[in-house]
Amino acid sequence: MCSRKFFVGGNWKMNGDKESLGELIMTLNTASLNDETEVVCGAPSIYLDYVRSKLDQRIGVAAQNCYKVPKGAFTGEISPAMIKDCGIEWVILGHSERRHVFGESDELIGQKVAHCLESDLGVIACIGEKLEEREAGTTEDVVFEQTKVIADNVRDWSHVVLAYEPVWAIGTGKTATPDQAQEVHEKLRGWLRENLSDAVADSVRIIYGGSVTGGNCKELAAQPDVDGFLVGGASLKPEFVDIINARS
Ligand code: PGA
Repeated sequence: MCSRKFFVGGNWKMNGDKESLGELIMTLNTASLNDETEVVCGAPSIYLDYVRSKLDQRIGVAAQNCYKVPKGAFTGEISPAMIKDCGIEWVILGHSERRHVFGESDELIGQKVAHCLESDLGVIACIGEKLEEREAGTTEDVVFEQTKVIADNVRDWSHVVLAYEPVWAIGTGKTATPDQAQEVHEKLRGWLRENLSDAVADSVRIIYGGSVTGGNCKELAAQPDVDGFLVGGASLKPEFVDIINARS
């Protein structure tokens, strides 16, 4: 099929404590994980160092957000330099909760993408339409516009994973059907081909997020343009292992 390595990210959001995350880490460290899958766990910032020190090195760690400059008077923020200093290679940017709960604009997300990539931090860049946008038939316009702002800030796509996460599917138990996910992923790849290059379109992993579970992951993973997942709720449970192994 294609040479894109399957990518499964866990997004633990603001959940867990040292004890429960320690148990989850033990489960992941001792599980049999498909070598053909790249796995990255998004930990709360205060636990990044703890998680990196406990989690097996075959599993990557991601911050869930960061700021757009290396340092300075930005109370409460963390920088890519700090994330890198903790031995962490990835950051999730533009998650729908950052956009819609904390009001992050496309412009700010673009600036963060640029600075993280300049700092040599891999970026899991999230996009996705709200329910009313899907119902109004504007899904394509919304995700293309969000992708354009990200693309305008990327020079080298080898450290970028694009996560399509329809807002109506996040944390709702209402997963996009495999056909719905494939349709948007295919269009996104077409956008990358038309606006960037064949090489970018063929190599960038486009992963799906929104109520992915052990039960629905295999059918989604079988879609040709679904190159992995970003998993919230189920990434805190042992079934995350089944999702990692969805293509096994
Ligand atoms: P969910 O979250 O799997 O709980 O729907 C996905 C996400 O927010 O990345």
